[in-house]
Amino acid sequence: MKNSNIYIFTALLSALFFSCNNANTKTSVVKSDDIIEQKIDSIIALMTVDEKIGQTVLYSSIEDITGPVLDKNYTTYLKNGQMGAIFNATGSAFTRKLQKIAVEETRLGIPLIFGYDVIHGYKTIFPIPMGEASSWDLELMKKTASIAAKEAAAEGLHWTFAPMVDISRDPRWGRIAEGAGEDTYLGSLIAKARVEGFQGKNLADKHTVLACAKHYAAYGAAQAGRDYHTVDMSLNTLKEVYLPPFKAAIDADVATFMTAFNELNGVPATGNSFLLKDILRDEWKFNGFVVTDYTSINEMVPHGFAEDLKHAGELAMNAGVDMDMQGGVYKNHMKASIEENKIKISRLDEAVRDILRLKFKLGLFEDPYKYCNEADEANIILHKDHLEVSREAARKSIVLLKNENNVLPLDASKKVALIGPLADDQFHIIGNWAAKGDRDGIAVSVKEGFEAQNKAFSYAKGCDIEGGDTANFNEAIKIAKTSDVVVMVMGESERMSGEAASRTDLKLPGLQQQLIAEIKKTGTPIVLVLYNGRPLNLTYENQTVDAIVEAWFPGTDGGHAVTDVLYGDYNPSGKLTVTFPRNVGQVPIHYNMKRTGRPEDLEGAHSRYVSKYIDVENSPLFPFGYGLSYTTFEYGEPQLSSNTLSNNGSITVKTTVTNTGNVAGEEVVQLYIKDRFGSVTRPVKELKGFKKITLEKGASTTVEFTITSEDLKFYNNKLEFANETGDYDLFVAGSSDANFTSSFTYK
Ligand code: NOJ
Repeated sequence: MKNSNIYIFTALLSALFFSCNNANTKTSVVKSDDIIEQKIDSIIALMTVDEKIGQTVLYSSIEDITGPVLDKNYTTYLKNGQMGAIFNATGSAFTRKLQKIAVEETRLGIPLIFGYDVIHGYKTIFPIPMGEASSWDLELMKKTASIAAKEAAAEGLHWTFAPMVDISRDPRWGRIAEGAGEDTYLGSLIAKARVEGFQGKNLADKHTVLACAKHYAAYGAAQAGRDYHTVDMSLNTLKEVYLPPFKAAIDADVATFMTAFNELNGVPATGNSFLLKDILRDEWKFNGFVVTDYTSINEMVPHGFAEDLKHAGELAMNAGVDMDMQGGVYKNHMKASIEENKIKISRLDEAVRDILRLKFKLGLFEDPYKYCNEADEANIILHKDHLEVSREAARKSIVLLKNENNVLPLDASKKVALIGPLADDQFHIIGNWAAKGDRDGIAVSVKEGFEAQNKAFSYAKGCDIEGGDTANFNEAIKIAKTSDVVVMVMGESERMSGEAASRTDLKLPGLQQQLIAEIKKTGTPIVLVLYNGRPLNLTYENQTVDAIVEAWFPGTDGGHAVTDVLYGDYNPSGKLTVTFPRNVGQVPIHYNMKRTGRPEDLEGAHSRYVSKYIDVENSPLFPFGYGLSYTTFEYGEPQLSSNTLSNNGSITVKTTVTNTGNVAGEEVVQLYIKDRFGSVTRPVKELKGFKKITLEKGASTTVEFTITSEDLKFYNNKLEFANETGDYDLFVAGSSDANFTSSFTYK
C-alpha cells in the first residue's frame, strides 16, 4: 500500500455514504456522526499496531521550546508514520511542509494535528487570562479567544493548549496568571466562554481551533505554591472547588483535555484512572481525546509511581491517556506492552478512534491543508479590529485598587513625571505565554500611549525591575520634583509568572520599593501602575502612594489602554478575581474560606484564643470582587420574592443600584450567599451570581438574580451532590467583603 493514501480512500468512502444516504432519505437518515464512526472503523481496520501507536504520539517541532527537549528526531518519526500530531510548528508554509510529509509520504496519509500554546492571543495579545478575568465580561473573553483562534488557525494551527481552568488560591504559584482566579462559579463560566470562543460553533470552520481544558486536575493547589509540587486534598474540595470548571468545559463541548503534572492524593494525574475514567469518561461522558502535559508520563518514574518508562506508559494508557506529549514513551514502549497484553489493543483502538474523530471533525481528511493558507495569514494576523479589541480588553481588565483624594483621573493640564522600569516597555507588557506576540515594535508602551495622546510629561526610568543599581534614581527624583504628579509603572518581569515561576516573596522585586520611597520624599502625588501576573503584597505601596492601578500584563495595546484609564477616557470597571494578601504569611487566603470554631468575632471569646495571627489582621489587603471606579455606586436592600425556597423551586432577588457619582460607569453587581450549616461545613460565603451593568451619572437600575435549589447544592458527608434544608444569608454588593443583609430558608 506504499504511496496509497487514505485521503483518497476516505473520499471514496464518503461518496459511498453520501449516495446511500441520498438513496434512503425517506426511510433512514444516516447521521454525520455515525458516518464518521464508520469511516474511523475502516481506517482502524487498515492500520498496523505501529501506525496506531503513531497516532498517539505528539512531538514538538523545536521551533519553540516550552519544556525540556528529549528528542530531536521528529521529522524521522513523521516520515515513518510514528506521529499523529506536532506542536510548536507555526506558519502556513512550515505546517504545510510537515503536513505534506504526513499526507504524501506515509503509508496511510493520515493528516497531522498542529498544536500550540495560544493562551491569551496569538499575534495580537490580550491581557493575561487572570487580568482579563478581572473584566468579568464573558462576551469579551469569548471574543478574544475567538480572535486568538482565528489568528492561530491562519498560521496552520488546529489546536490550542487552552484554556487553563485551574482554580488557584495561591499567589506564590506563577501559573495563577494563566487562570481565571480563585472562584469556582466564576471560573466555570469563564471556562465555558473561552472554550466557546476558541472552538466556535463548528470545528470544521477554518477560523476555529480545538480547545484543551488543562491541567486535569487540581494543578493549582500545589503545596506551598511550588510548581509541579504535590496536591493532597479532600474529595469534597476536589469535587466542589477544582473540578467544576473542567465539567463546564465539557458542557461547552471542549475537544481535548490535558493531564496535570502533579500527583493528586498519591496518584499522579497522568496515571489516575479515578480522574480519567471514573469521572471524565464514565460520569461526564467526555468523547474527545486526552493528551498528557509535557513528558508527564515519564515523570511518573521520578514521582515514584512507575517502575520504569514502559510501566509508566502502561499506567497512563490504561488510566485513559490517549496522546503522549513529548515523552516518547508510547512510541518507544507501547508495542512491547501490547505484545505482553499489558495494554489491550482495544484500549489503543479507543485512543486512536478519539484522535481520528477530531481529525475528521476538523475537516482534515477532506482537505489537510485547509488551515495552511498564506492569504489568510496576511489578512487576518494583527487585523486592526483585533488591535481594537486588545485595547478594549486591556481597559476592561484594569482594576483601580486605590484612588486617594481623587488623584485620578489625571487632569490633562498637569505635568506628569513618568517613571519606572516598565514605563517605556514593549517587552514585558504582553506577559508570559504570549504565543507569537511581538515584544518589540507592535506592542504599545505607556510612554508611547502618552505620546500618541500628546500628554505633557517627562520620562526617567529610575531603576530596573530586578537588581540593585541606584544610578538612575536621581534623574527620576529630579523630574518628580518639577512635576505635578508622578506616574510610576512598575511590577514583575514577564518571566516571574507563568510556568516554573513560583515566588516566596510577593513584594515588588529589586529596588522598586526603594525608588517609591525616594519619590515619596519629593511630596509630589504618586500614581502607581502595576504589571504583574499574580496578587502582590502591596502593603507598603498602599500606605505610600496615592493611587494604584492594577494593569496586569495588559497586552499589545496595553499602553493606550493604561493612558485611557489614567486620563479618564475610560472609567475603570475591573474587579479582582483573586484576593490580594497583606503579606505572604496569610497565603492561602481566599474570600470563600471555610469557617472555624473560633472565628475572630466569636461572641464572649477571650480575644487571644481565636483564629487569628498576632502580627497581622485576618482580612486581606484587597478582597475578591473589589475594584474602584471614578464614580460611586449605592446599593439598595435586596428584595426577595419569597423567604422560602423548595426543591426545584426558585426565588428572585432584586436590588436597586444607583450611580451616585459624577460620571458614567460600569459596575459588577455580585450576589453572595452563606449556608449557615451543613452535614459538612460550608464556606463563609460563596459567589452565586453577577451582572455587569453600565449606569449614567445619577441613574438607577434594578438588578435581578434568580436563586434555584440547584445553586444551593454541595457535596455532602456521603459525597453526594445534594441539597440540605436550612437557613441561608445573602447580600448583593460590589465586592465580596460586604455584610449580609437578607436571609431565606430552604425547605
Ligand atoms: C507545559 C505546560 O504545563 C502546558 O501548559 C503547556 O501546554 C505544555 N508545556 C506545552 O507547551
